[in-house]
Amino acid sequence: MKPRTGTIAALDIGTTKLCCFIARTDTHGETRVVGIGHQIAHGLRNGSIIDMEAAEASILSAVSTAEQMAGETIDHIIVNLSGGRQTSHNTSIDVSISGHEITDSDLRLAFQKGSENIGTGDREIIHAAPVNYSIDGSPPIRDPRGMVGERLRVNMHIITADAGAVRNLANCISRCHLKIEEIVPSPYAAGLACLVEDEIDLGVTCIDMGGGTTSLSVYYDGNLVRTDSIPIGGAHVTGDIARGLSTTLAHAERLKTLYGNALPSETDSNESIDVPLIGETSHSQANHVPKSLLIGILRPRLEEILEMIRDRLEASGFDKIAGQRVVLTGGASQMQGICELAATILDKHVRLGKPIRTIGIAEATGGPAFSVCAGLLAHAVRSRAESRVKGRGLLEEPGGFIGRLGFWLRECF
Ligand SMILES: Nc1ncnc2c1ncn2[C@@H]1O[C@H](COP(=O)(O)OP(=O)(O)OP(=O)(O)O)[C@@H](O)[C@H]1O
Ligand SMILES: [Mg+2]
Repeated sequence: MKPRTGTIAALDIGTTKLCCFIARTDTHGETRVVGIGHQIAHGLRNGSIIDMEAAEASILSAVSTAEQMAGETIDHIIVNLSGGRQTSHNTSIDVSISGHEITDSDLRLAFQKGSENIGTGDREIIHAAPVNYSIDGSPPIRDPRGMVGERLRVNMHIITADAGAVRNLANCISRCHLKIEEIVPSPYAAGLACLVEDEIDLGVTCIDMGGGTTSLSVYYDGNLVRTDSIPIGGAHVTGDIARGLSTTLAHAERLKTLYGNALPSETDSNESIDVPLIGETSHSQANHVPKSLLIGILRPRLEEILEMIRDRLEASGFDKIAGQRVVLTGGASQMQGICELAATILDKHVRLGKPIRTIGIAEATGGPAFSVCAGLLAHAVRSRAESRVKGRGLLEEPGGFIGRLGFWLRECF
């Protein structure tokens, strides 16, 4: 099996599952997923690696399944980062242009200054993209090149993460004999996979409800402008059910997906569900509890998650920019009634989101749990398209969906 050019491999390292998509660009320029591998995650907690060997084994298993299906081996991979205490920074940089036409090198200088502004030390920049520009106090400009003025202001969005978390991820991937093509923040990838262009332009918040983390990304005027995350997710809901009903985590997970609902209903107290007690092997020992008990356990945790997300959004000041639209994605967004609960708590219009830009994935791997993996592919396809257009310079074609979503600082030097 030989690696081929035009192949893109994406790996979503989640707290509960790992997923690898291998995609190939066909003769019509269309990118199609040709290999998929997914695997229960071991060695991860709340988006961070806690056991290197276990994480390595899970990655190898997901990647090799995808490789076998694709019929080729991969050597480079684009991978997400969920943990690492990510911080979203919005920074403005002023550069003097003294009346000359603005060129790529003015922008490069501004981006360099912007990344220096954020400072590094024990933090590493994992995402940096211009949001908009202004010349001598003008209204926002999308691409200032070719324009003249005295001072150029660049508003940038930068995400930093703990350098240790980035290094751990890099080590883990290299132990799997793979090279990292790029590290992408998970909230950014989730939004990229399931938001439509109009939402990205008008303002939207994407909430990725995973197993160990819940993250948010705010897109406005074509750009990612804010990300945040909390280390609570669907696994905490399962844990609450297991504790509350004295059952195993596996049974709690089953009860949650089979009978769970974020909204109580009048019939819940009349409906009885079987709960095998922890440590009991015989089914005759099953405990019968009303469904209302299950709903009463899981609902407060879902409320807590959504309220924390709402508070983070409000505290950041980006909830107004984000407008009235919210898109929920991630495995835990499959809970019945979650849209209605989110709409009440966030006081916004809520829809469910799943990958919309990926061709070749089956129904089973096209659900909301696969948004981040699909977003990694979408990002890789876009970066490669940008590189082809601009070589190692700056984007030549601003204005399109690709051009306006920002691009990686690394590409610009
Ligand atoms: N039908 C369902 N109803 C409710 N929850 C569900 C359903 N299906 C899956 N989940 C939950 O989704 C969570 C997993 O989601 P996902 O695969 O997006 O997480 P992850 O990517 O592994 O974790 P993270 O992004 O937090 O690192 C689990 O907690 C699981 O219980
Ligand atoms: Mg995830």
